Amino acid sequence: MENFVYEYPAKVYFGKGAAAAHLPGILAAYGPNVLLAYGGGSIKKNGVYEEITGILNAAGKQITEFTEIMSNPTWAKVQEGARLARENRIDLVLAVGGGSVVDCCKIVCAQAVTDENLWEVERVQHKAPSKAPIPLGAVVTASGTGAEMNGGAVITNEDSKIKGGMFAAAPRFAILDPEYTMSLPRMQVLSGAFDTLSHAMETYFGRSDRDNVSDEVALAIMHSTVVNMRTLLKDINDYTARSNLMWTSAMAENGILKVGRVTDFECHQMEHQLGAYTDCNHGQGLAVLHPAYYRHIVKDAPEKFARLGRAVFEVEGAEAAVDALAGFIKECGLPTKLTELHSKVEITPELLRQVADSVNLLPNGPRQLTHDEVYEIFMECM
Ligand code: NZQ
Ligand code: ZN
Repeated sequence: MENFVYEYPAKVYFGKGAAAAHLPGILAAYGPNVLLAYGGGSIKKNGVYEEITGILNAAGKQITEFTEIMSNPTWAKVQEGARLARENRIDLVLAVGGGSVVDCCKIVCAQAVTDENLWEVERVQHKAPSKAPIPLGAVVTASGTGAEMNGGAVITNEDSKIKGGMFAAAPRFAILDPEYTMSLPRMQVLSGAFDTLSHAMETYFGRSDRDNVSDEVALAIMHSTVVNMRTLLKDINDYTARSNLMWTSAMAENGILKVGRVTDFECHQMEHQLGAYTDCNHGQGLAVLHPAYYRHIVKDAPEKFARLGRAVFEVEGAEAAVDALAGFIKECGLPTKLTELHSKVEITPELLRQVADSVNLLPNGPRQLTHDEVYEIFMECM
Protein backbone atom coordinates (compact mmCIF):
# COMPACT_ATOMS: atom_id res chain seq x y z
CA MET A 1 0.00 0.00 0.00
CA GLU A 2 1.00 3.61 -0.58
CA ASN A 3 1.11 5.79 2.56
CA PHE A 4 -2.14 7.62 3.24
CA VAL A 5 -4.04 10.04 5.45
CA TYR A 6 -7.78 9.41 5.57
CA GLU A 7 -10.35 11.77 6.97
CA TYR A 8 -14.00 11.72 6.15
CA PRO A 9 -15.58 15.19 6.35
CA ALA A 10 -19.35 14.79 5.80
CA LYS A 11 -21.93 13.48 8.25
CA VAL A 12 -24.49 11.46 6.31
CA TYR A 13 -28.19 11.19 7.08
CA PHE A 14 -29.57 8.40 4.92
CA GLY A 15 -33.07 7.15 4.17
CA LYS A 16 -36.72 7.97 3.65
CA GLY A 17 -37.73 11.14 5.46
CA ALA A 18 -34.12 12.05 6.35
CA ALA A 19 -34.59 15.78 5.69
CA ALA A 20 -37.65 16.13 7.91
CA ALA A 21 -36.06 14.02 10.63
CA HIS A 22 -32.63 15.63 10.74
CA LEU A 23 -32.46 18.99 8.98
CA PRO A 24 -34.18 21.00 11.75
CA GLY A 25 -31.59 19.83 14.28
CA ILE A 26 -28.70 20.37 11.90
CA LEU A 27 -29.81 23.92 11.05
CA ALA A 28 -29.75 24.97 14.69
CA ALA A 29 -25.93 24.94 14.54
CA TYR A 30 -25.75 27.61 11.82
CA GLY A 31 -26.51 31.33 11.59
CA PRO A 32 -29.72 32.76 10.14
CA ASN A 33 -28.78 33.42 6.51
CA VAL A 34 -29.05 30.44 4.16
CA LEU A 35 -28.23 30.37 0.45
CA LEU A 36 -30.63 27.80 -1.02
CA ALA A 37 -29.02 26.58 -4.25
CA TYR A 38 -30.66 24.44 -6.89
CA GLY A 39 -30.75 23.66 -10.60
CA GLY A 40 -33.22 24.20 -13.39
CA GLY A 41 -36.37 23.59 -11.39
CA SER A 42 -36.86 19.83 -10.95
CA ILE A 43 -37.11 20.41 -7.18
CA LYS A 44 -40.15 22.61 -7.71
CA LYS A 45 -41.95 19.80 -9.55
CA ASN A 46 -41.25 16.90 -7.18
CA GLY A 47 -42.06 18.53 -3.84
CA VAL A 48 -38.46 18.78 -2.59
CA TYR A 49 -38.42 22.60 -2.77
CA GLU A 50 -41.62 22.80 -0.74
CA GLU A 51 -40.31 20.43 1.91
CA ILE A 52 -36.89 22.07 2.26
CA THR A 53 -38.17 25.67 2.29
CA GLY A 54 -40.80 24.58 4.83
CA ILE A 55 -38.05 23.28 7.11
CA LEU A 56 -35.91 26.39 6.60
CA ASN A 57 -38.83 28.73 7.31
CA ALA A 58 -39.83 26.79 10.41
CA ALA A 59 -36.24 27.13 11.63
CA GLY A 60 -36.50 30.92 11.20
CA LYS A 61 -33.89 31.09 8.44
CA GLN A 62 -33.61 33.98 6.00
CA ILE A 63 -33.50 32.33 2.56
CA THR A 64 -31.63 33.71 -0.45
CA GLU A 65 -32.15 31.64 -3.59
CA PHE A 66 -29.35 30.78 -6.03
CA THR A 67 -31.08 29.14 -8.99
CA GLU A 68 -30.63 27.75 -12.51
CA ILE A 69 -27.35 26.00 -11.77
CA MET A 70 -26.76 24.12 -15.00
CA SER A 71 -25.37 20.65 -15.62
CA ASN A 72 -21.62 21.10 -16.18
CA PRO A 73 -21.61 24.25 -13.98
CA THR A 74 -19.59 27.17 -15.28
CA TRP A 75 -17.07 29.47 -13.69
CA ALA A 76 -19.42 32.40 -14.40
CA LYS A 77 -22.14 30.64 -12.39
CA VAL A 78 -19.73 30.21 -9.47
CA GLN A 79 -19.11 33.98 -9.52
CA GLU A 80 -22.86 34.66 -9.45
CA GLY A 81 -23.28 32.42 -6.39
CA ALA A 82 -20.27 33.94 -4.63
CA ARG A 83 -21.68 37.44 -5.19
CA LEU A 84 -25.04 36.42 -3.71
CA ALA A 85 -23.34 34.78 -0.73
CA ARG A 86 -21.27 37.89 -0.01
CA GLU A 87 -24.11 40.39 -0.48
CA ASN A 88 -26.43 38.43 1.81
CA ARG A 89 -23.85 37.54 4.49
CA ILE A 90 -24.59 33.87 4.08
CA ASP A 91 -23.95 31.57 7.06
CA LEU A 92 -24.74 28.27 5.32
CA VAL A 93 -25.00 27.22 1.68
CA LEU A 94 -27.54 24.44 1.18
CA ALA A 95 -27.03 22.71 -2.18
CA VAL A 96 -30.16 20.81 -3.25
CA GLY A 97 -29.57 18.78 -6.39
CA GLY A 98 -27.16 16.48 -8.16
CA GLY A 99 -23.42 16.72 -8.71
CA SER A 100 -23.66 19.95 -10.67
CA VAL A 101 -25.38 21.92 -7.91
CA VAL A 102 -23.15 20.48 -5.19
CA ASP A 103 -19.95 21.12 -7.19
CA CYS A 104 -20.90 24.70 -8.03
CA CYS A 105 -21.66 25.39 -4.36
CA LYS A 106 -18.38 23.90 -3.15
CA ILE A 107 -16.51 26.60 -5.03
CA VAL A 108 -19.09 29.31 -4.24
CA CYS A 109 -18.39 28.70 -0.53
CA ALA A 110 -14.66 29.23 -1.03
CA GLN A 111 -14.90 32.04 -3.61
CA ALA A 112 -17.33 34.10 -1.51
CA VAL A 113 -14.74 34.68 1.22
CA THR A 114 -11.91 35.97 -0.97
CA ASP A 115 -11.25 38.58 -3.67
CA GLU A 116 -8.70 36.29 -5.28
CA ASN A 117 -9.79 34.48 -8.43
CA LEU A 118 -9.80 30.85 -7.24
CA TRP A 119 -9.58 29.43 -10.76
CA GLU A 120 -6.31 31.32 -11.09
CA VAL A 121 -5.14 30.32 -7.59
CA GLU A 122 -5.91 26.62 -7.99
CA ARG A 123 -5.60 25.83 -11.70
CA VAL A 124 -2.77 28.21 -12.65
CA GLN A 125 -0.76 28.77 -9.45
CA HIS A 126 -1.57 25.26 -8.11
CA LYS A 127 -2.22 26.58 -4.62
CA ALA A 128 -5.04 25.77 -2.20
CA PRO A 129 -7.57 28.43 -1.16
CA SER A 130 -6.15 30.12 1.94
CA LYS A 131 -9.39 31.14 3.71
CA ALA A 132 -11.92 28.89 5.43
CA PRO A 133 -15.02 28.51 3.22
CA ILE A 134 -18.63 29.21 4.18
CA PRO A 135 -20.12 25.97 5.58
CA LEU A 136 -21.87 23.79 2.98
CA GLY A 137 -24.58 21.16 3.30
CA ALA A 138 -25.98 18.94 0.54
CA VAL A 139 -29.43 17.52 -0.07
CA VAL A 140 -28.91 15.02 -2.86
CA THR A 141 -31.62 14.60 -5.50
CA ALA A 142 -29.58 12.77 -8.15
CA SER A 143 -26.99 10.19 -7.18
CA GLY A 144 -24.00 8.88 -9.12
CA THR A 145 -21.25 11.46 -8.82
CA GLY A 146 -20.76 11.09 -5.06
CA ALA A 147 -20.02 14.83 -5.10
CA GLU A 148 -21.62 15.20 -1.68
CA MET A 149 -18.87 13.08 -0.11
CA ASN A 150 -15.72 15.05 -0.84
CA GLY A 151 -14.22 18.49 -1.42
CA GLY A 152 -13.55 18.10 -5.14
CA ALA A 153 -15.59 19.98 -7.73
CA VAL A 154 -15.60 19.94 -11.51
CA ILE A 155 -16.16 23.35 -13.07
CA THR A 156 -16.22 24.43 -16.73
CA ASN A 157 -14.28 27.55 -17.63
CA GLU A 158 -16.02 28.62 -20.81
CA ASP A 159 -13.27 31.05 -21.84
CA SER A 160 -10.43 28.54 -21.75
CA LYS A 161 -12.67 25.55 -22.63
CA ILE A 162 -11.35 23.56 -19.71
CA LYS A 163 -13.59 21.45 -17.51
CA GLY A 164 -11.31 20.94 -14.57
CA GLY A 165 -11.19 19.71 -11.00
CA MET A 166 -10.88 22.13 -8.11
CA PHE A 167 -10.77 21.61 -4.36
CA ALA A 168 -12.75 23.74 -1.95
CA ALA A 169 -15.52 23.20 0.59
CA ALA A 170 -16.51 19.63 1.36
CA PRO A 171 -20.11 19.39 2.57
CA ARG A 172 -20.30 19.18 6.35
CA PHE A 173 -23.47 17.14 6.10
CA ALA A 174 -25.36 15.29 3.38
CA ILE A 175 -29.00 14.25 3.31
CA LEU A 176 -29.41 11.13 1.16
CA ASP A 177 -33.06 10.21 0.71
CA PRO A 178 -33.55 7.71 -2.14
CA GLU A 179 -37.16 8.92 -2.46
CA TYR A 180 -35.80 12.28 -3.64
CA THR A 181 -34.31 10.55 -6.70
CA MET A 182 -37.57 8.91 -7.80
CA SER A 183 -38.55 11.73 -10.16
CA LEU A 184 -35.28 11.52 -12.11
CA PRO A 185 -35.62 10.69 -15.81
CA ARG A 186 -34.75 7.03 -16.45
CA MET A 187 -31.67 7.94 -18.52
CA GLN A 188 -30.27 10.11 -15.72
CA VAL A 189 -30.79 7.32 -13.17
CA LEU A 190 -28.81 4.91 -15.34
CA SER A 191 -26.12 7.35 -16.46
CA GLY A 192 -25.62 8.45 -12.85
CA ALA A 193 -25.21 4.83 -11.77
CA PHE A 194 -22.79 4.26 -14.63
CA ASP A 195 -20.75 7.18 -13.30
CA THR A 196 -20.44 5.30 -10.00
CA LEU A 197 -19.29 2.17 -11.85
CA SER A 198 -16.76 4.33 -13.67
CA HIS A 199 -15.42 5.82 -10.41
CA ALA A 200 -14.80 2.36 -8.98
CA MET A 201 -13.16 1.16 -12.22
CA GLU A 202 -11.00 4.25 -12.58
CA THR A 203 -9.83 3.82 -9.01
CA TYR A 204 -9.17 0.08 -9.45
CA PHE A 205 -7.06 0.61 -12.59
CA GLY A 206 -4.71 3.02 -10.83
CA ARG A 207 -1.49 1.93 -9.20
CA SER A 208 -1.50 -0.28 -6.12
CA ASP A 209 0.02 -3.41 -4.65
CA ARG A 210 -1.51 -6.63 -5.92
CA ASP A 211 -3.31 -7.36 -2.68
CA ASN A 212 -4.56 -3.92 -1.77
CA VAL A 213 -7.79 -4.33 0.21
CA SER A 214 -9.11 -1.21 -1.58
CA ASP A 215 -9.30 -3.28 -4.78
CA GLU A 216 -11.52 -5.85 -3.07
CA VAL A 217 -13.85 -3.07 -1.95
CA ALA A 218 -13.84 -1.46 -5.41
CA LEU A 219 -14.79 -4.77 -7.06
CA ALA A 220 -17.63 -5.22 -4.57
CA ILE A 221 -18.91 -1.70 -5.36
CA MET A 222 -18.74 -2.45 -9.11
CA HIS A 223 -20.58 -5.75 -8.70
CA SER A 224 -23.30 -4.21 -6.54
CA THR A 225 -23.71 -1.30 -8.98
CA VAL A 226 -24.17 -3.67 -11.93
CA VAL A 227 -26.61 -5.91 -10.03
CA ASN A 228 -28.73 -2.97 -8.88
CA MET A 229 -28.70 -1.33 -12.32
CA ARG A 230 -30.01 -4.63 -13.72
CA THR A 231 -32.78 -4.57 -11.11
CA LEU A 232 -33.69 -1.05 -12.28
CA LEU A 233 -33.87 -2.22 -15.90
CA LYS A 234 -36.82 -4.36 -14.78
CA ASP A 235 -38.34 -1.78 -12.42
CA ILE A 236 -36.84 1.69 -12.55
CA ASN A 237 -38.64 2.63 -9.30
CA ASP A 238 -37.31 -0.25 -7.18
CA TYR A 239 -36.60 1.46 -3.85
CA THR A 240 -34.05 -1.07 -2.65
CA ALA A 241 -32.01 -0.76 -5.82
CA ARG A 242 -32.23 3.04 -5.69
CA SER A 243 -31.04 2.94 -2.06
CA ASN A 244 -28.12 0.65 -2.84
CA LEU A 245 -27.11 2.83 -5.79
CA MET A 246 -27.31 6.00 -3.72
CA TRP A 247 -24.95 4.48 -1.17
CA THR A 248 -22.55 2.87 -3.67
CA SER A 249 -22.37 6.28 -5.34
CA ALA A 250 -21.38 7.81 -2.01
CA MET A 251 -18.89 5.07 -1.14
CA ALA A 252 -17.17 5.26 -4.51
CA GLU A 253 -16.28 8.89 -3.87
CA ASN A 254 -15.83 9.15 -0.11
CA GLY A 255 -12.17 8.29 -0.47
CA ILE A 256 -12.32 4.79 1.00
CA LEU A 257 -11.61 3.06 -2.35
CA LYS A 258 -8.66 5.36 -2.90
CA VAL A 259 -6.92 4.56 0.36
CA GLY A 260 -3.36 3.34 -0.18
CA ARG A 261 -3.40 3.77 -3.93
CA VAL A 262 -3.09 6.20 -6.81
CA THR A 263 -6.09 6.41 -9.15
CA ASP A 264 -6.27 6.30 -12.97
CA PHE A 265 -9.20 8.63 -13.95
CA GLU A 266 -7.98 9.07 -17.54
CA CYS A 267 -11.44 8.25 -18.89
CA HIS A 268 -12.80 11.07 -16.73
CA GLN A 269 -10.17 13.43 -18.14
CA MET A 270 -11.35 12.58 -21.67
CA GLU A 271 -15.02 12.91 -20.77
CA HIS A 272 -14.53 16.21 -18.96
CA GLN A 273 -12.95 17.81 -22.01
CA LEU A 274 -15.65 16.35 -24.21
CA GLY A 275 -18.10 18.00 -21.81
CA ALA A 276 -16.24 21.32 -22.02
CA TYR A 277 -16.70 21.39 -25.81
CA THR A 278 -20.08 19.64 -26.24
CA ASP A 279 -21.87 20.12 -22.86
CA CYS A 280 -22.67 16.39 -22.91
CA ASN A 281 -24.07 14.50 -19.94
CA HIS A 282 -21.23 13.19 -17.75
CA GLY A 283 -22.37 9.59 -17.19
CA GLN A 284 -23.42 9.20 -20.82
CA GLY A 285 -20.07 10.49 -22.06
CA LEU A 286 -18.32 7.95 -19.85
CA ALA A 287 -20.53 5.15 -21.18
CA VAL A 288 -19.43 5.96 -24.73
CA LEU A 289 -15.73 6.27 -23.93
CA HIS A 290 -15.04 3.48 -21.45
CA PRO A 291 -15.08 0.43 -23.76
CA ALA A 292 -12.92 2.19 -26.37
CA TYR A 293 -10.44 3.35 -23.71
CA TYR A 294 -10.25 -0.12 -22.17
CA ARG A 295 -9.67 -1.76 -25.57
CA HIS A 296 -6.58 0.45 -25.82
CA ILE A 297 -5.16 -0.53 -22.42
CA VAL A 298 -6.43 -4.09 -21.92
CA LYS A 299 -3.06 -5.61 -22.89
CA ASP A 300 -1.29 -3.41 -20.34
CA ALA A 301 -3.16 -4.89 -17.38
CA PRO A 302 -4.50 -8.30 -18.49
CA GLU A 303 -4.65 -9.80 -15.01
CA LYS A 304 -6.53 -6.85 -13.57
CA PHE A 305 -9.04 -6.86 -16.42
CA ALA A 306 -9.55 -10.62 -16.03
CA ARG A 307 -10.06 -10.23 -12.28
CA LEU A 308 -12.65 -7.52 -12.89
CA GLY A 309 -14.39 -9.72 -15.49
CA ARG A 310 -14.65 -12.60 -13.04
CA ALA A 311 -15.79 -10.52 -10.06
CA VAL A 312 -18.22 -8.17 -11.79
CA PHE A 313 -19.53 -9.89 -14.94
CA GLU A 314 -18.73 -13.56 -14.26
CA VAL A 315 -16.71 -13.96 -17.48
CA GLU A 316 -13.20 -15.35 -17.99
CA GLY A 317 -10.37 -13.40 -19.64
CA ALA A 318 -9.30 -9.80 -20.05
CA GLU A 319 -10.82 -9.15 -23.48
CA ALA A 320 -14.04 -10.83 -22.35
CA ALA A 321 -14.22 -8.38 -19.44
CA VAL A 322 -14.15 -5.41 -21.81
CA ASP A 323 -16.73 -7.08 -24.08
CA ALA A 324 -18.95 -7.70 -21.05
CA LEU A 325 -18.70 -4.04 -20.03
CA ALA A 326 -19.60 -2.93 -23.57
CA GLY A 327 -22.51 -5.41 -23.61
CA PHE A 328 -23.74 -4.12 -20.25
CA ILE A 329 -23.75 -0.52 -21.51
CA LYS A 330 -25.90 -1.62 -24.48
CA GLU A 331 -28.17 -3.65 -22.19
CA CYS A 332 -28.81 -0.48 -20.15
CA GLY A 333 -29.67 1.51 -23.27
CA LEU A 334 -26.89 4.00 -22.53
CA PRO A 335 -25.28 5.77 -25.50
CA THR A 336 -22.52 3.90 -27.31
CA LYS A 337 -21.51 6.58 -29.83
CA LEU A 338 -20.49 10.22 -29.54
CA THR A 339 -23.23 11.12 -32.01
CA GLU A 340 -25.84 10.00 -29.43
CA LEU A 341 -24.65 12.51 -26.81
CA HIS A 342 -26.93 15.48 -27.60
CA SER A 343 -23.93 17.72 -28.19
CA LYS A 344 -24.57 21.46 -28.38
CA VAL A 345 -22.17 21.62 -31.36
CA GLU A 346 -21.63 19.31 -34.33
CA ILE A 347 -19.08 16.65 -33.48
CA THR A 348 -16.55 16.56 -36.33
CA PRO A 349 -13.05 15.06 -36.61
CA GLU A 350 -11.65 18.62 -36.44
CA LEU A 351 -13.50 19.28 -33.18
CA LEU A 352 -12.35 15.96 -31.75
CA ARG A 353 -8.75 16.81 -32.59
CA GLN A 354 -9.09 20.01 -30.53
CA VAL A 355 -10.77 18.16 -27.68
CA ALA A 356 -8.12 15.42 -27.73
CA ASP A 357 -5.28 17.94 -27.61
CA SER A 358 -6.84 19.60 -24.56
CA VAL A 359 -7.09 16.39 -22.51
CA ASN A 360 -4.96 16.09 -19.38
CA LEU A 361 -2.75 12.96 -19.69
CA LEU A 362 -2.30 11.23 -16.35
CA PRO A 363 0.57 8.88 -15.52
CA ASN A 364 -1.20 6.52 -13.13
CA GLY A 365 -3.23 4.12 -15.27
CA PRO A 366 -1.98 0.88 -16.82
CA ARG A 367 -0.28 2.99 -19.54
CA GLN A 368 -0.07 6.73 -20.16
CA LEU A 369 -1.91 7.76 -23.33
CA THR A 370 -0.73 10.32 -25.89
CA HIS A 371 -2.92 13.03 -27.42
CA ASP A 372 -2.86 11.11 -30.72
CA GLU A 373 -4.17 8.01 -28.97
CA VAL A 374 -6.92 10.02 -27.24
CA TYR A 375 -7.91 11.26 -30.70
CA GLU A 376 -7.97 7.65 -31.99
CA ILE A 377 -10.22 6.67 -29.06
CA PHE A 378 -12.59 9.55 -29.84
CA MET A 379 -12.69 8.61 -33.54
CA GLU A 380 -13.44 4.98 -32.65
CA CYS A 381 -16.48 6.27 -30.73
CA MET A 382 -17.95 8.09 -33.75
O1 NZQ B 1 -31.38 21.16 -12.88
P1 NZQ B 1 -32.56 20.35 -12.50
O2 NZQ B 1 -33.85 20.91 -12.98
O3 NZQ B 1 -32.58 20.01 -11.04
O4 NZQ B 1 -32.43 18.96 -13.33
C1 NZQ B 1 -31.35 18.08 -13.13
C2 NZQ B 1 -30.43 17.98 -14.34
O5 NZQ B 1 -31.12 18.29 -15.52
C3 NZQ B 1 -31.92 16.70 -13.04
N1 NZQ B 1 -32.34 16.30 -11.70
C4 NZQ B 1 -31.62 16.26 -10.57
N2 NZQ B 1 -32.34 15.74 -9.57
C5 NZQ B 1 -33.56 15.46 -10.08
C6 NZQ B 1 -33.57 15.81 -11.44
N3 NZQ B 1 -34.66 15.65 -12.24
C7 NZQ B 1 -35.76 15.12 -11.68
N4 NZQ B 1 -35.81 14.71 -10.38
C8 NZQ B 1 -34.73 14.86 -9.56
N5 NZQ B 1 -34.80 14.41 -8.29
O6 NZQ B 1 -30.87 15.84 -13.44
C9 NZQ B 1 -30.07 16.50 -14.41
C10 NZQ B 1 -28.63 16.20 -14.16
O7 NZQ B 1 -28.22 16.79 -12.93
P2 NZQ B 1 -26.67 16.98 -12.64
O8 NZQ B 1 -26.50 17.48 -11.26
O9 NZQ B 1 -26.03 17.74 -13.75
O10 NZQ B 1 -26.14 15.46 -12.77
P3 NZQ B 1 -25.03 14.69 -11.99
O11 NZQ B 1 -25.42 14.42 -10.60
O12 NZQ B 1 -24.69 13.55 -12.87
O13 NZQ B 1 -23.78 15.72 -11.94
C11 NZQ B 1 -22.94 15.89 -13.05
C12 NZQ B 1 -21.82 16.86 -12.71
O14 NZQ B 1 -21.00 16.36 -11.63
C13 NZQ B 1 -19.63 16.31 -12.07
C14 NZQ B 1 -19.78 16.05 -13.55
O15 NZQ B 1 -18.59 16.30 -14.26
C15 NZQ B 1 -20.90 16.99 -13.92
O16 NZQ B 1 -20.43 18.31 -14.05
N6 NZQ B 1 -18.89 15.31 -11.28
C16 NZQ B 1 -18.57 15.61 -10.00
C17 NZQ B 1 -17.79 14.77 -9.22
C18 NZQ B 1 -17.38 15.12 -7.85
N7 NZQ B 1 -17.52 16.35 -7.42
O17 NZQ B 1 -16.91 14.29 -7.07
C19 NZQ B 1 -17.29 13.48 -9.71
C20 NZQ B 1 -17.86 13.08 -11.03
O18 NZQ B 1 -16.91 12.26 -11.69
C21 NZQ B 1 -18.27 14.18 -11.94
O19 NZQ B 1 -17.18 14.65 -12.72
ZN1 ZN C 1 -17.69 10.75 -12.73
